Amino acid sequence: MKIAVTGAFSYSGKFITKRLMEHGEKVITLTGHPNRPDPFDGQVKVYPLDFDEAGMTKSLQGVDVLVNTYWVRFDRGDNTQPRAVENTQNLVNAARAAGIKRIVNISIANPSADSHLPYYWGKAANEKTVIESGISYAILRPTVLAGDEDILINNIAYLLRRFPLFTIPGDGKQYASELKKHYE
Ligand SMILES: NC(=O)c1ccc[n+]([C@@H]2O[C@H](COP(=O)([O-])OP(=O)(O)OC[C@H]3O[C@@H](n4cnc5c(N)ncnc54)[C@H](OP(=O)(O)O)[C@@H]3O)[C@@H](O)[C@H]2O)c1
Repeated sequence: MKIAVTGAFSYSGKFITKRLMEHGEKVITLTGHPNRPDPFDGQVKVYPLDFDEAGMTKSLQGVDVLVNTYWVRFDRGDNTQPRAVENTQNLVNAARAAGIKRIVNISIANPSADSHLPYYWGKAANEKTVIESGISYAILRPTVLAGDEDILINNIAYLLRRFPLFTIPGDGKQYASELKKHYE
């Protein structure tokens, strides 16, 4: 298959791409950072993740599956959650126009249209876009993606190594095993 992965030179996209290539799939990427270090020695063709519908439709020609990792973590300037919802709509429209057969969409645990948190209602809106696209889809809802480049767990581990006190919400079970691994 020919598979488009957003952000193949970023965090999760890099691991997804590696796994797909190990399985012999042909991968292209849409990214806003084409000059990041390329761990795939030029084997992954690069196209812009610029949310221009016509341009992305062209980039996605002949692609069977789109793996969408795109998100906006925090609002900064024009880069807001409403903009991310709009951008996701453009990406999904482009996928449909290009004839993509399936979308694998990375979401978050417990997305909700009623959430007061923009990240969570944004993710719920993005899921709706994918569901209503008419394209076959899979939606993944991870809580956290732990790995060497992960910011959340590594920042927590950094604090744990340097400060004598750390607060954990609830009963602390959620991150306990990952924290223990990094702390050791
Ligand atoms: N990291 C976690 O612990 C975690 C936990 C739960 C769910 N998730 C979900 O998993 C997905 C992937 O997360 P990740 O940590 O692997 O993300 P990432 O690699 O940092 O970024 C994924 C994609 O989003 C694009 N992107 C990120 N921030 C952007 C911005 N401000 N403006 C425009 N494009 C932006 C990246 O663009 P470039 O290609 O230009 O870098 C890349 O294509 C996300 O949908 C996230 O919500 C992550």
